[in-house]
Amino acid sequence: MSAHGSSSQSLVVWHDVECGAYQADLALWVELAKATDDPVLDIGAGTGRVALTLAATGCRVVALDREPVLLDALAQRAADAGLAVECVVADAADYDIESTTFGLIIVPMQTIQLLDSEARAAFLACAHRALRAGGLLALAVADTIEAFEPDEVLLPDPDRLERDGWSYESQPLSARRIGDCVRLERLRQAVSPSGERLEELDEIDLADISPAHLRAEGERAGFVPQPSWRVPPTPEHVGSEVVMLRA
Ligand SMILES: C[S@@+](CC[C@H](N)C(=O)[O-])C[C@H]1O[C@@H](n2cnc3c(N)ncnc32)[C@H](O)[C@@H]1O
Repeated sequence: MSAHGSSSQSLVVWHDVECGAYQADLALWVELAKATDDPVLDIGAGTGRVALTLAATGCRVVALDREPVLLDALAQRAADAGLAVECVVADAADYDIESTTFGLIIVPMQTIQLLDSEARAAFLACAHRALRAGGLLALAVADTIEAFEPDEVLLPDPDRLERDGWSYESQPLSARRIGDCVRLERLRQAVSPSGERLEELDEIDLADISPAHLRAEGERAGFVPQPSWRVPPTPEHVGSEVVMLRA
């Protein structure tokens, strides 16, 4: 099978193209995880960019995602690296891992902005139940989500990946405000080893919420807001504020 040969493989590859190379936040998650002896829950863990980094430092990590194929890839990578990561297929807005009490729950890379307000409220209630008293919930919120049209601006650089002779490129095309979301449109292009080109359009909606808004939602769920931490911007990515909520 080619690297691009099935929809499940394709989900893993595009996840790696668009998330895999980001490193600016890793030191922050490692520092937070070192401060607890209890297990850490990584929400929206994907193929394990953060979960595998934490497991490599000796941290006990549970990786939660709603996409089984992404967690299959994560589990394979953990096994290849000799790391232990427990994987849980579940929706962030509806999970209950009764067997474990967590000292830290992390939500990296703006995953919280993939949830609408109802789902965020449900997620915050689940997270409050899953944390030990005094445990910490840390959620990364993008500093800005600027709307743009292709003819208005120099487009952001695409994310790129070479794998198994294939070249992948994901080019942001536009970001449009729709209600309380920003809809990001990306052109995904894959070129096979023989030069065949495949293209698809992808759209995601990101909730345009401020850290203050998220802190207020956290307080309504019973959390006590703490001072935020920061992930600085890089040439390729906006910075983020990491909202800290104590259970
Ligand atoms: C932007 S990616 C971040 C992946 C990874 N945490 C990282 O930082 O590289 C968002 C991830 O959240 C997952 N996701 C989105 N909505 C979800 C939901 N409602 N419940 C669980 N996972 C979700 C997606 O499948 C995807 O793996």
